[in-house]
Amino acid sequence: MEEQQTQQTSRDSLASRFNLSLVIMYLCTVLITAPTVYFVTKQQVYERAEADLILLVDVVKSIQDFVATDLRPHFMKEKIFYSPSFSGIVATSRIAKYLKQKQPQFYINNVSDNPLNLENRAKGLEQSLLERFRKNRNLESYNTVGQIDGQNYLVSSAPKVSRKGCLRCHGEPAQAPQDVTTTYGTESGYGYRNGEVVGVSVVGVPLEDVQSLTLQRSLLVIGGITLLFALLFIVVNMLVKRLILIPIGDITELAKAVSQGDITREVVVYRRNDEIADLANAFELMRRSLLTAMKRMRRKS
Ligand code: HEC
Repeated sequence: MEEQQTQQTSRDSLASRFNLSLVIMYLCTVLITAPTVYFVTKQQVYERAEADLILLVDVVKSIQDFVATDLRPHFMKEKIFYSPSFSGIVATSRIAKYLKQKQPQFYINNVSDNPLNLENRAKGLEQSLLERFRKNRNLESYNTVGQIDGQNYLVSSAPKVSRKGCLRCHGEPAQAPQDVTTTYGTESGYGYRNGEVVGVSVVGVPLEDVQSLTLQRSLLVIGGITLLFALLFIVVNMLVKRLILIPIGDITELAKAVSQGDITREVVVYRRNDEIADLANAFELMRRSLLTAMKRMRRKS
């Protein structure tokens, strides 16, 4: 009984040592995977947002270039005054409205703390950007991450500086074009002075929620790793049992039988080419020579 016990525990311990190392390997893999997934996901989210932002900022600049170089001179020559063909900001604001219907995730706006269109009043992040550009007049653009209307954006911003041409619409209300005063009134958006920072252009692309995306991906990756380790666990246990534990158990039992004087029981001869098979075969060889020796001794006596 005592012997049986020791054999049992030692047999368990070989398999459980394999299993313990598998569990440790599994835990290490998970511990390395989770932060790696977080890091890679964050990197990807920012890279994608940055690429979108560069594209969007260039599109907005191109709209303003188009108004300044193609539309404005033409309409001035024809003496037709229509604000979207005169001001790049107005054209951008109109185009942004159409874009919002197709790509609602992007944010394009020109804001001011003295706006013609009251919807363009700077608030929150936009107001702090406006103050930043007022404090630092050398700053030509500023990229940051921030919340607009509760959504996280990667934002590119640039100051809007009042020039002589701007005063045509944003100067004295009495001199402003009629299409401007009838649409926006005469209360707000006027009295700009040459050279002052009057507003900010803000272009934002959404930053996906890194946390929940990481959680989603981590669960997927950890699920895969768990499945793989479960499979490895089953296969390793099966192999250890078949290739090591069972043959060693057989040999142990036989050794015990031999020690008690029973040498008639044969060891299973393995047709494999590994150390355990060598051991079993050597044991069987020894048993057979023992058997012949004993027979010879019996005959002699
Ligand atoms: C042709 C008239 C006109 C000219 C010239 C003009 N703007 Fe405007 N601007 C407008 C109108 C109209 C809006 C409102 C657009 C809207 O509804 O979003 C506007 C909007 C803005 C806004 C957004 C906040 C607001 O008032 O609604 C800023 C900032 C701005 N203009 C700055 C400028 C600057 C700087 C210049 C000169 C570089 C300029 N504008 C030239 C007509 C003009």
